[in-house]
Amino acid sequence: MPKVTFINPDESRVELDVPVGTSLMRAATAHGIEGIVGDCGGGLTCATCHVLVIDDAFLAKSGEVSANEDQMLDFTAMGRMPNSRLSCQVVMSDDLDGIVVRIADPQL
Ligand code: FES
Repeated sequence: MPKVTFINPDESRVELDVPVGTSLMRAATAHGIEGIVGDCGGGLTCATCHVLVIDDAFLAKSGEVSANEDQMLDFTAMGRMPNSRLSCQVVMSDDLDGIVVRIADPQL
């Protein structure tokens, strides 16, 4: 199963196995990763699932940023970075095995 590593704001890391087809937000909230709030359940209305994709190669493979995600990224509490994604929109695939994301801080 492909793996994701979340880097918490305190620099600790959590590695999770994520089934293909599951969003990184769902994986994080299911495992109690506190930094990912995911208030809207993936409906693209909260921007509390903000992550920074560490490697440009993974960023390129993380899927298209839709117009709605693009808009919501402008409302993140931390502020948008070039490698920002909303983790509810990043769906695990075999191509993303090994992806590392930094959890944005703050989320609210
Ligand atoms: S969970 Fe609300 S925008 Fe991602």
